[in-house]
Amino acid sequence: MAVAMAIPAVAKGETKMSIFGKTADGVPVPIYTLTSGQIEVRVMAYGAHLVSVKAPDRNGKTADVVLGYDDLSTYLKTPNPYIGAIVGRYGNRIAGGKFTIDGNSYQIPLNDGPNALHGGPKGFDQYVWQAHEVPGGVEFTLVSPDGDMGFPGTLTAKVRYTLNGATLRIDYTATTDKPTVLNLTNHAYYNLHGDEQGNILDQKIEINADRYTPVNATLIPTGELAPVAGTPLDFTKPEVIGARIGVDNEQLKRGHGYDFNWVVKGKPGTLRLAATVTDPVSGRKLTVETTEPGVQFYSGNFLDGSFTGRHGVKYEKHTGLCLETQHFPDSPNHPDFPSTLLRPGETMHSTTTLTFGVVK
Ligand code: GLA
Repeated sequence: MAVAMAIPAVAKGETKMSIFGKTADGVPVPIYTLTSGQIEVRVMAYGAHLVSVKAPDRNGKTADVVLGYDDLSTYLKTPNPYIGAIVGRYGNRIAGGKFTIDGNSYQIPLNDGPNALHGGPKGFDQYVWQAHEVPGGVEFTLVSPDGDMGFPGTLTAKVRYTLNGATLRIDYTATTDKPTVLNLTNHAYYNLHGDEQGNILDQKIEINADRYTPVNATLIPTGELAPVAGTPLDFTKPEVIGARIGVDNEQLKRGHGYDFNWVVKGKPGTLRLAATVTDPVSGRKLTVETTEPGVQFYSGNFLDGSFTGRHGVKYEKHTGLCLETQHFPDSPNHPDFPSTLLRPGETMHSTTTLTFGVVK
């Protein structure tokens, strides 16, 4: 009798929904667990947050490699350091919160000294998005009304998280009914040691960029695209994050560490490497690819211990790092930067992928 051949176990992706909690108004917030057999991802409808990514180390031991909370109530506290959030309408800073479109002036309420940060005091991170399952994951939709935080036009934003093997893909799309500006990104904080062990200063980063956008004292780009060569912002080869973070450098002083936008090499609109992070201790490696023109590498400088994460760890300075794939900060006031303008009839598309692997 013929013996049936063993069918190789195919790791089948799965998405499961449960209720994470309720907002102060009693709105239930669904959370989705995406599994691929390689990694497990949790995303929720409040702020379309990336809540958790469990990834194996070089010995196959799984741990959470993004910062996050176990309960919705901590996410609901404001101001919150955008732990895992989708930020919008405009990720990063707009100088004075002001810009003009077609001769009309707009003012976003200021929430970062003299500037507007991450869409103003009530950004997209603070809304319950509509959720529906799609093959391989979930899509969140938010309709931001005309005038929301001072931005013109009803904006319909969609963020789709899908998991394939070890890659989490984030697709952003948006449409508007009046000319507006937007810059959507994800504000996950990574710590590849896993379960928020230690800090990120001993991890290595490589950024696929030989230029960055230098900033003034309030972290607004001067407009220049400056070479990284010869500066502590040169990550064209993998470098230990903590190695030069304390050197005497005007930009590092302004950022209180790394908090700058690098100009990703290659053509915006095409998916290309933005950065890799590796952890020599666990062997974990994160590869970030994006269609966006830039990436903000932020070394968690403003984390100050006032939030405690899911493993009872206080989020102190450098507990995690962010790689916010984006258009350049303050683009609405820099006509030379890639445009963040969206007009009725157009659709904004962008894609970022996060791949969680290991090195020997
Ligand atoms: C971004 C900014 C930082 C900081 C964080 C949130 O990375 O560039 O300056 O505001 O978000 O704390």
